[in-house]
Amino acid sequence: MRTTTLGASGPEVGVVGLGCMGMTFAYDRQGERDDDTSIAVVRQAIDLGVTLIDTADAYGPYTNEELVGRALAGGWRDRTVLATKVGILTADGKATGLDGRPEHIRRSIDGSLSRLGTDRVDLYQLHRVDPRVPIEESWGAMAETVAAGKVRHLGLSEVTVEQIRRAQAVHPVATVQSELSLWTRDPLPEVLPYCQEQGIGFLPFSPLGRGFLAGRFTSFDDLPADDFRRELPRFQQDALRANLAIAGQVRQVADRIGVTPAQVALAWVIAQGRHVVPIPGTKTPAYLVDNAGAAGLELGKEDLAELDALPAPEGGRY
Ligand SMILES: NC(=O)c1ccc[n+]([C@@H]2O[C@H](COP(=O)([O-])OP(=O)(O)OC[C@H]3O[C@@H](n4cnc5c(N)ncnc54)[C@H](OP(=O)(O)O)[C@@H]3O)[C@@H](O)[C@H]2O)c1
Repeated sequence: MRTTTLGASGPEVGVVGLGCMGMTFAYDRQGERDDDTSIAVVRQAIDLGVTLIDTADAYGPYTNEELVGRALAGGWRDRTVLATKVGILTADGKATGLDGRPEHIRRSIDGSLSRLGTDRVDLYQLHRVDPRVPIEESWGAMAETVAAGKVRHLGLSEVTVEQIRRAQAVHPVATVQSELSLWTRDPLPEVLPYCQEQGIGFLPFSPLGRGFLAGRFTSFDDLPADDFRRELPRFQQDALRANLAIAGQVRQVADRIGVTPAQVALAWVIAQGRHVVPIPGTKTPAYLVDNAGAAGLELGKEDLAELDALPAPEGGRY
């Protein structure tokens, strides 16, 4: 797979990464987890050159890091750039709040290392800025994990340029992870250009619109009863129906060039910049191969222009 670096000076990674969240959290019937297949997907990803593997202590909580740790045992860890996150609290599969206090961060890294079965993570990300804690304090505690040799690089998630600047004054910011896709373009005017200027890697999350842009859902009823997407405005029946026009146009472009809608959605994201590394989530071997294939797809000018001109979706992100 074609590679890039995480920002100007970070480690080398395949231009498509793998998000592991949905393997144990948020999506589908969580009672019907298939860990063996998920483990096989993580290892297959590494074999395909998808080396950036993303998880978080909040996913579960903890079940996702445990699963990724099992997948990376036996030498697989050394072939990955392993990313996890701290700062969102969850219980019983639901978010319950934020905790960016230094003591929480100092405590959390050891749990993550133990669940992941490693003595150092490559990228430790502040999952959200806790509005009760000055970012300098959270980021200072993150920097301590680097000084202690437990972490190589630090990343932020869902931040403004101002928050990135404040963090940079304390310790370098290697990456910013925020939602970016054909139907979520919020980072394009400010955050992404700032990251490019500063040599910060940008990791689009939910680059497939949580599966919608890949053509997975045509009705609210396609979503399992305990699926987190049932709570999101864009997936409510009326909005979803209106948004089918967007997925339909993505499919048209895909059909025209002979690829899949997921590959078009990912290639558009990758085209937004040199240090942009999307982390599509999947637990399905065929989808993984599909997504990895997007690394070699360069969209033509006309295709990009058509995708750029897609209408804004109906309904907010959250
Ligand atoms: N920083 C944050 O706050 C934050 C928030 C959300 C997510 N994330 C990260 O971003 C990662 C990806 O985001 P996401 O999982 O929310 O959304 P996504 O990558 O946009 O979409 C995932 C969904 O698309 C389906 N899918 C994947 N590849 C497909 C293909 N080729 N064809 C058809 N369907 C396909 C998956 O199905 P299956 O799962 O059934 O295979 C899953 O339902 C997460 O795993 C997580 O690591 C971070």
